[in-house]
Amino acid sequence: MASLLMEVPVLVAANTPMPMKKVEVSDPAPHEVRVKMAASGVCHSCLHAYDGSHETPMPMILGDEGAGVVESVGSAVTTLVPGDHVIISWLLNCGTCAQCLRGKPAYCYGPSPFGAIGFDNTGRFTDVETGKPVLHYGPATYAPYVVVPATSAIKIRKDMPLEKAALIGCSVTTGFGAVTNAAAARPGDSVAVVGCGGVGLNSIQGARVVGANPIIAIDTSDAALEMAVKLGATHTINPKKVDVEKEVFKIVPHGVDHAIGAVGSVPAFLNGMNILGPGGTLIILGAPGNGDKMTIDPIFHVLRGERGMRGSKYGSANPATEFPMLIELYMAGKLDLDSLLTASYSLDEATKAFEVLAKGGAGRGLIKF
Ligand SMILES: NC(=O)c1ccc[n+]([C@@H]2O[C@H](COP(=O)([O-])OP(=O)(O)OC[C@H]3O[C@@H](n4cnc5c(N)ncnc54)[C@H](O)[C@@H]3O)[C@@H](O)[C@H]2O)c1
Ligand SMILES: [Zn+2]
Ligand SMILES: [Zn+2]
Repeated sequence: MASLLMEVPVLVAANTPMPMKKVEVSDPAPHEVRVKMAASGVCHSCLHAYDGSHETPMPMILGDEGAGVVESVGSAVTTLVPGDHVIISWLLNCGTCAQCLRGKPAYCYGPSPFGAIGFDNTGRFTDVETGKPVLHYGPATYAPYVVVPATSAIKIRKDMPLEKAALIGCSVTTGFGAVTNAAAARPGDSVAVVGCGGVGLNSIQGARVVGANPIIAIDTSDAALEMAVKLGATHTINPKKVDVEKEVFKIVPHGVDHAIGAVGSVPAFLNGMNILGPGGTLIILGAPGNGDKMTIDPIFHVLRGERGMRGSKYGSANPATEFPMLIELYMAGKLDLDSLLTASYSLDEATKAFEVLAKGGAGRGLIKF
């Protein structure tokens, strides 16, 4: 083993095209693996870092959604060997705390991995020109090679196409799990998804798979709504054209059982709260800009009708079991990942991928290595 050199887009300033820089990626430490990336989806969470809506330390390599092939393993790794196909889990959870052991890695007590890697708070990337560290956005899947804890590289079957598998690394698991895990929707429950992008479209799919009805897609983009219907939505609402709340109550007179807020927007979350029926819950997935606040009325929104609101990180999933399950659904034709892929980019087009995502549209863009 030896450190490797790679060319990678690096975030150096908000809203500024990311230059391709020569970066050295270190060997994996004893409990880590180095993965040669095959593909990385373009998530709005990284766009929040790029456009400055989320404060982000720099220089940083972005990317939270990807899959690849294990290139080398640390001396203490017994669960993976070079050549294994893996999806990267951006939780980078410790694997040993009480929450990890009870199958709730999203609640890990370990330090946040964003801005570093692993749990020794040291990075694995060095800028060759300056000799200074380059930070990681979680796993930093826009790098051709990533180093992650072995527990964050989830082994998958080799006949699963890696480009489709990449999407499971964030948007599919988050959107799907918000409905199946966080909301725990049941057959016949009504579900509304506010924001039908890469994440929300997978909430539509989660709702379809559990047999929810109706499934109401709400998005400001008609292209996104069209895709939502393809993936299982029974009704669509465009807030630019009609009053969301009035339209929902025409479909479900007492309000919905579950609303999924899959866009980083407080007005969209309020839409979600206002359309809940008695006992209904809003699941917050989207990440509004730093410091955005939301005002709710404790009597109207919560007490009357026992409505609630909760967050869902990574679809409240345990990636170790959920990634392989989602792959089985895909292989069985029950989860559509093919329609989700609507654009592909080379690595040096990462900035362009953000510009396209920022304009809105349908489905997910993918960087192919
Ligand atoms: N909770 C988590 O673990 C987690 C994981 C991944 C992403 N996220 C967050 O989820 C959000 C969505 O991510 P994405 O990658 O799907 O983004 P995206 O850009 O692909 O999708 C957002 C969608 O919302 C629509 N939209 C915009 N404003 C709207 C409004 N007012 N009402 C209804 N629809 C509206 C857009 O047209 C678009 O289709 C982001 O904030 C992202 O950071 C959270
Ligand atoms: Zn993401
Ligand atoms: Zn932990």
